[in-house]
Amino acid sequence: MTTDTAELPRIVCITGGTSGIGAGLVAAFLASGATVYTCGRTPAKVAQLQAQWAEATASGHLIALTGDVTEAAFIAELVAIITAQAGRLDVLVHNAGVILASGDLSESVTAWRMTLETNLIAPFALTQASLALLARSAAAVVITLSSACAQHSFHTCTSSSYSVSKAGLDLLTQRLALALAPRGIRVNGVAPGVVASDMWGEATGLMAATVAQRHVLQQQFVTPADVAAAVLFLASPQARLITGAILKVDAGYTLG
Ligand SMILES: NC(=O)c1ccc[n+]([C@@H]2O[C@H](COP(=O)([O-])OP(=O)(O)OC[C@H]3O[C@@H](n4cnc5c(N)ncnc54)[C@H](OP(=O)(O)O)[C@@H]3O)[C@@H](O)[C@H]2O)c1
Repeated sequence: MTTDTAELPRIVCITGGTSGIGAGLVAAFLASGATVYTCGRTPAKVAQLQAQWAEATASGHLIALTGDVTEAAFIAELVAIITAQAGRLDVLVHNAGVILASGDLSESVTAWRMTLETNLIAPFALTQASLALLARSAAAVVITLSSACAQHSFHTCTSSSYSVSKAGLDLLTQRLALALAPRGIRVNGVAPGVVASDMWGEATGLMAATVAQRHVLQQQFVTPADVAAAVLFLASPQARLITGAILKVDAGYTLG
């Protein structure tokens, strides 16, 4: 898949851009010439991203904020900053996500609530708050980060709350696609297989075993760059008639 970066939109917001897939998305969109707004909860990780992209930060092409997308006040702050500085939003990527527990009946209700707040409700709330900004773009796109675990109960998908949050996010993606089509706004999802990232925490053994078992195409990890290529494609004019799609980037994880 090749994407003509010269045609890519310029004002981009990526939640959770301070590590893993989000950091890969920040790099890819900055390389395309975009101005990128991003955020994360941990100040040290935000500072590290700013240091990594010192020139882009100094020139105002990267605006990295400390904040939590589950908090209404932070969503309002983020939208207010983009409104004041850019006046519109071309691409909104709901990347921030968490796995807080594993198990079917052993996860705490607190973990369930926080997982749904982060992975499902925050993307709805931020999309809703961004509508005026998206409406001012000539070709706005919203992209959600789903998962190979969204539509399957494979035993390698160990967190019920996570899988359910991503299943809900897939349906939210489709409903938003339908609701926003009359305004010319496209909404799509990308569903990665296993990407080596902080999200896996200590579960590196499970991570490697899942790749060996489920990534039937070459038993390789999906990389943040693989995911970014799919997101850039969906954000490009080449995807102008694609909406409501969930694009798998999973090395065959979900084939069986
Ligand atoms: N890694 C995989 O195998 C995989 C597979 C399929 C889908 N995904 C999805 O891809 C997305 C990115 O995952 P990843 O693997 O890159 O995880 P990661 O390395 O843990 O990165 C998650 C990012 O989101 C931020 N974040 C988490 N909660 C937040 C909140 N409430 N408010 C603001 N920022 C928040 C984190 O920073 P702070 O912690 O500092 O807030 C970090 O920047 C997630 O939606 C995940 O479900 C991952």
